[in-house]
Amino acid sequence: MSLNMKGIKEKSLIIVKPDGIQRGLIGEVIGRFENKGLKIVGLKMMSLDEVVLREHYAHHVDKPFFKSLANFMQSSPVIVLCVEGLNVVDAVRLVCGVTKAYAADPGSIRGDLAMSTACNVVHASDSVENAEKEVKRFFKEDELFDYDKAEYMHVYAEDER
Ligand code: CMP
Repeated sequence: MSLNMKGIKEKSLIIVKPDGIQRGLIGEVIGRFENKGLKIVGLKMMSLDEVVLREHYAHHVDKPFFKSLANFMQSSPVIVLCVEGLNVVDAVRLVCGVTKAYAADPGSIRGDLAMSTACNVVHASDSVENAEKEVKRFFKEDELFDYDKAEYMHVYAEDER
């Protein structure tokens, strides 16, 4: 039996932002999630248009930095990832570190690889509820994969799987 309702099927949406792409950090960033033991169930490169950015950053649309955030997010393609695992939304946020990269803990992606608030390498869903919306925003149903991962025997204990 799983420890929470979604168990190891909880999903989170991650974006490797344009700075991550341009600085050659795609492999490094994806590797950190793989090393943590998360299952990648969706992965693609895409360009973000104004419409999707206004929806994705709806809570920031009226902020003074929105225009530069939107320009930055359109400055190159991004990688979108859907990952699955136990309490994955919280786990991914810890792996990413806090938004202000200069203050992020060493060992986190932002703490180790970035200094900026906007150019902070990754976006990650901030709640289970938002993760569900964000996964649907960036992935069609047939772009998500349900498969067994052999290493789960050693990532999770029997009562967590
Ligand atoms: P993200 O996790 O994608 O969520 C919203 C993004 O807005 C955040 O990461 C930052 O990239 C950006 N952001 C938040 N606050 C600021 C700010 N004060 N100035 C510039 N960008 C910001």
